[in-house]
Amino acid sequence: MKDIYAAVKVTDNVYWVGAIDWTIRDFHGYTTPHGSTYNAYLVMADDITLIDTVKAPFMDEMLSRIKSVVDPSKIKYIISNHSEMDHSGCLPAMIDLIKPQTVFASPVGVKTLKELFHRENEIIEVVDGETLNLGNMELTFMEARMIHWPDSMFTYLDKDELLFSQDAFGMHLATLERFADEIPAATLEYEGATYYANIVLPYSPIVLKVLGKVAASGLKIKIIAPDHGPIWRKDLGWILELYKKWASQKPTAKAVVVYATMWHSTEKMARAISEALASEGVKVKLLSMNETHRSEVVYEVLDAGALIVGSPTLNNNILPQMADVMTYLKGLRPVNLIGAAFGSYGWSGESVKHLESILKEMKVEIAAESVAVKNVPDSGVLEKCHELGKTIASELLKRTVSN
Ligand code: FEO
Repeated sequence: MKDIYAAVKVTDNVYWVGAIDWTIRDFHGYTTPHGSTYNAYLVMADDITLIDTVKAPFMDEMLSRIKSVVDPSKIKYIISNHSEMDHSGCLPAMIDLIKPQTVFASPVGVKTLKELFHRENEIIEVVDGETLNLGNMELTFMEARMIHWPDSMFTYLDKDELLFSQDAFGMHLATLERFADEIPAATLEYEGATYYANIVLPYSPIVLKVLGKVAASGLKIKIIAPDHGPIWRKDLGWILELYKKWASQKPTAKAVVVYATMWHSTEKMARAISEALASEGVKVKLLSMNETHRSEVVYEVLDAGALIVGSPTLNNNILPQMADVMTYLKGLRPVNLIGAAFGSYGWSGESVKHLESILKEMKVEIAAESVAVKNVPDSGVLEKCHELGKTIASELLKRTVSN
């Protein structure tokens, strides 16, 4: 019977042999409405090499794609660029099945894979700058620590000027198109930014360093092959510039107003603040956590200059939906934001103080006095919300002009 899966040729020497996960909808808290891919690559050098593997349940799909090119037992080396289980889940089973001569990973990768799979001495360390001769071509390993885990590394194939970049430059997007130039630019920009915001954002200072290091290395790069989503083979400057922009997080004249509401009082305040911001020329994204997923919020915050958050008081605290998104945002460490808090309450009214305290922990500069209202806001309170919006707008516009 003909196998349904085949490899996709990337260059004369490299094949994509990964798996497409059409149904995944949650990736450790990040919603993935358009699925994902786990990319693995076969380098058909004199010494055949597999770059990364796939999530454990997708091993058969990867094997089928490899078999469409070569007998898997002919693979001599496996390189583990990143040990997170979406790329290493079937590594132990692959080692047992194909018995490669050597498996390589970064020093931290060796330790991490041991802690994940509890197998002895089967993986060899390669350090930053080290090379591996494959006979008719050569691989160079480059440390890419924290993009996405401490073990992360890139692998460069000299003959094809191809960078295997593991999570970097990836996106969660299930498609049968394997190349970015086959996908609309707006889709790439949205999915790439969403992935960056939800996965890479906390490591932005390191992204800028690694991009600088790769540029300084003088290596020519014609193709970037990430571990998720499409492969970049045209106009690489476009995605590299986007990475620089996302990593820099320069504030724009955009405010994100995030709130949850019980009986629409906090919602009315959010609407008043948003109208005032917009009336001053600030772009506004108003997001109700009663309806919005946390992943969408961090996508919107990625290019914002202000974060304004609201919650009513529930049991002396904030609403759970707001606790969820604030915890998520805090962990992703967006920078260069100003902000403020608002909310309604019935009797004790702690929510605004809680929100302000989380904003301060996030190093968001509080740029306007917060507004709290007992029960339903009257026109005087809504006027205060307008003032809050105008104060934030004025401060934000000063900052974005100076950029
Ligand atoms: Fe795609 Fe950090 O794993």
